[in-house]
Amino acid sequence: MGELGNLNPILMETTLVLIKPGGVQRNLIGEITRRIEARDLRISGLKLIRAELATVEEHYAEHRERPFFASVCDYLTSGPIVALAVSGTNSVKAIRAMMGATNPLEATPGTVRGDLALTIDDNLVHSSSDPEAAARELALWFPEGTF
Ligand code: PPS
Repeated sequence: MGELGNLNPILMETTLVLIKPGGVQRNLIGEITRRIEARDLRISGLKLIRAELATVEEHYAEHRERPFFASVCDYLTSGPIVALAVSGTNSVKAIRAMMGATNPLEATPGTVRGDLALTIDDNLVHSSSDPEAAARELALWFPEGTF
């Protein structure tokens, strides 16, 4: 085993990405999926949908008491979104890093939000925060399963 042997154990994971209405409207579906595939992650589920309010409310349920809950739910149902299941080595952490900080003003250049977004209310993408959230969110958005 090399000297970095146990620092980053290889975990095959699947995570959820949502391209929010602003990302679809700005024709960024290709740009965002290109970055994901270029990272050698595999798109194992993909759909362009108009989300039901109930689905979005369940998705953001842990934020129900936050002041932005109603506006974020309204926003997510305001136009078509793309739901992606993304599979690969450590995909949860890899995707979070690629998407950048939640507030685009704090997102590093080179990340999706750091390169393509400016405001938190239109931060283009959602990605699962940890493996437990990924499992819950994938069951919600891909109840039929992924490939
Ligand atoms: S985190 O990293 O998911 O814990 O981020 P958090 O700050 O808790 O925010 C949770 C989600 O709510 C969105 N959010 C907002 N939307 C609109 N306006 C304001 N002010 C706002 N603040 C937070 C934020 O984008 C997170 O959604 P996702 O889909 O994960 O980006």
